[in-house]
Amino acid sequence: MKVLGIETSCDECAAAVVEDGRNVLSNVVATQIPHHAPYNGVVPEIASRKHTEWIYCVVKEALEKAALEPQDIDAVAATSRPGLLGSLLVGLSFAKAFAWSRNIPFIAVDHMLAHLYAAQLSVETLAYPYLGLLVSGGHSIICRANAFDNITVLGTTIDDAAGEAFDKVAKHYHFGYPGGAVIDRMAKDGDSDSFRFPMPSLHKGSLPRGSEHRCDVSYSGLKNAVINQLEQFRHKKDGATRNEDIAASFQKTAVEILLRALFNACEDTGLSTVVAGGGVAANSSLRSRLAQRQDIRCIFPPMELCGDNGAMIAGIAWHYLARGDRSPLSVTASARVEGFKKKYP
Ligand code: KG4
Ligand code: ZN
Repeated sequence: MKVLGIETSCDECAAAVVEDGRNVLSNVVATQIPHHAPYNGVVPEIASRKHTEWIYCVVKEALEKAALEPQDIDAVAATSRPGLLGSLLVGLSFAKAFAWSRNIPFIAVDHMLAHLYAAQLSVETLAYPYLGLLVSGGHSIICRANAFDNITVLGTTIDDAAGEAFDKVAKHYHFGYPGGAVIDRMAKDGDSDSFRFPMPSLHKGSLPRGSEHRCDVSYSGLKNAVINQLEQFRHKKDGATRNEDIAASFQKTAVEILLRALFNACEDTGLSTVVAGGGVAANSSLRSRLAQRQDIRCIFPPMELCGDNGAMIAGIAWHYLARGDRSPLSVTASARVEGFKKKYP
């Protein structure tokens, strides 16, 4: 079964064709970065307008790269939540129209579940349950994955998302946009011990089992420390402040915050397989720190499937289709994460 997957939740206009939930036949991502870069962040109005202009060409290219015609597609899927409402509506409406005009099934997909699924496009089937580390520009979720469509949220951010912290720090220092990839690159030339930034108070010391926030993360304190109080936390060496050192020191703490919460989740659930997903899963420091843990099997999607893409949408949609699910064409977009209950392990 060949599924066309469409993803337009934020600033990537993406479409892909995936066969039987695994075999990626094409994966086209048209990034809007140059259009948002002058503003150092995503401008929702620009994002939805660009999606409207590009979606037809992006889908056409995905079909061409897969050497397929529209009539070869067996089903269509699109992200319906969470994301920017105007952007979501473009991909969702296009997918519904495609499905309706060809009289084929349509599936509405949750973006975060799709990020969690992305790793499965590159590894042999993973046995449930496992831990999910979902880290993107809008969300930070540590969860127990019970099935492809069922997660239990163990921890989340109590303020900013991980990617948001990277983006805001980069914006403040004019490092470039989008912040995550830029800081990651700069950090390679920096000394991560140049500055000492604080861990969030919810991770000061070690929280005992049963503590409400054991698997939660918080980034606003770190972000504010880096942005506003750099002097205060300065570790005077030669007095010179290098941007690369700021980037490396921030990144070290940002990754440490995620790992604290994740390791608590491993300990509390007894699960030792972690599947990462979302843009921040591309972070080199996060990847290398997790690779050092012999007792944890960590699976990352390939770099091109960490950020937003259509392949993860088409891939997960196949599982819904295989069990006979269909989404009604009345499904609409939602900006929020919905349907996941937080539960302490
Ligand atoms: O999943 P994604 O492409 O879009 C959302 O669903 O939000 O994630 C985008 C986020 C941005 O905040 C971006 O700065 C961050 O992922 N990101 C990174 C890296 N590459 C992208 N953060 C840290 N290190 C990276 N290498
Ligand atoms: Zn995403």
